[in-house]
Amino acid sequence: MQNILVTGGAGFIGSNFVRHLLREYPSYHVVAYDKLTYAGNLKNLLEVHDEPRYRFVRGDIADKHSLAQAIREHNIDTIVNFAAESHVDRSILEPDAFIHTDVVGTYVLLEAARQFQLERFHQVSTDEVYGSIPEGFFKEGDPLEPNSPYSASKAGGELMVRAYHETYGLNTVVTRGSNTFGPYQYPEKVAPLFITNAIDDEPLPLYGDGRQVRDWLYVEDHCSGIDLALHRGAAGEVYNLGGGNERHNIDVTRLILRLLGKPDSLIRPVADRPGHDRRYALDCARLRALGWQPAWGFEAAMAETVAWYRQNEWWWRPIKSGEFKAYYQQQYGQRLTAG
Ligand code: NAD
Ligand code: TYD
Repeated sequence: MQNILVTGGAGFIGSNFVRHLLREYPSYHVVAYDKLTYAGNLKNLLEVHDEPRYRFVRGDIADKHSLAQAIREHNIDTIVNFAAESHVDRSILEPDAFIHTDVVGTYVLLEAARQFQLERFHQVSTDEVYGSIPEGFFKEGDPLEPNSPYSASKAGGELMVRAYHETYGLNTVVTRGSNTFGPYQYPEKVAPLFITNAIDDEPLPLYGDGRQVRDWLYVEDHCSGIDLALHRGAAGEVYNLGGGNERHNIDVTRLILRLLGKPDSLIRPVADRPGHDRRYALDCARLRALGWQPAWGFEAAMAETVAWYRQNEWWWRPIKSGEFKAYYQQQYGQRLTAG
């Protein structure tokens, strides 16, 4: 493993992972391959711009010609696939791009991996493929019961990864990560949306009763978990990757407000998300047996994240004033008026 194609490398977790690989593995060459959708941003990769072992290629994972060219040109031996449409609310408004990228794109990548006989294919998946669990913890062998177009498309892509291992013997590995937060997360997701809204004294639109539970994972811990599974995970295996920080949304919201010194009166209960999963929770014994454990506590990681958004308005202000405005109006306009 020397030349790694990180697809979706200009997104939130992908760009953190590109930095992680370049820092941890001085002999690796890393190519970030990204379509630069609304969520992809070359500013996320500024820190590695001058690194000679790093290259950026603009391309769609569903475009087999562009993909083949990148693999050939950079002598790629490994793919780590982060590329996805990643936001549940957008998948409810418009599922089309989710099928294109998360299902078809994953298939096209797998075909390329097979054709070029790559050493390893890592699929970055999500705990959302299981659906909701009222109590207890999901294990890797549990049935997949996704409830949103996003999670269904991720499950579709992931099952194709399984098929390529079983059918063609491709050396695959899958991680199912839980809700991730940290620097460079597009401000449509709840943590950066609420942090940046609160900085501007704008309302925080909390869906339903705010008692939904997510298991929060700091992006650096997500990257170290992917790293370990990529290098040490068994071929064809799936690994749950959760922070072990189950929190109600309302409590996450209050923590963010407390860290910013803003009042709880900014919280605005609004109409719930359709098909909203109540609770996610993961049993991560399999990955822990390989030696993984999170380095960050939840409160400290959220404090770090809040501090980053406070210090990096240059990064998020242009995003929130661009395409995002139309999306925000479509997603929240009526909700906020009615709420
Ligand atoms: P993101 O939306 O920030 O980044 C996705 C990146 O993929 C963007 O840079 C985008 O330009 C790129 N992309 C989209 N379609 C593409 C295409 N067709 N071809 C090439 N590039 C394309 O997402 P993220 O939060 O960083 O998530 C990364 C991966 O991790 C996704 O696969 C997601 O399902 C998974 N995941 C995310 C979380 C989370 O909480 N954010 C949790 C678990 C798993
Ligand atoms: P999100 O960040 O969209 O991640 P996911 O849906 O993939 O878990 O949302 C996290 C939780 O926060 C989820 O239960 C939905 C809730 N949420 C709100 O209450 N208000 C919001 O504006 C958003 C974006 C999410």
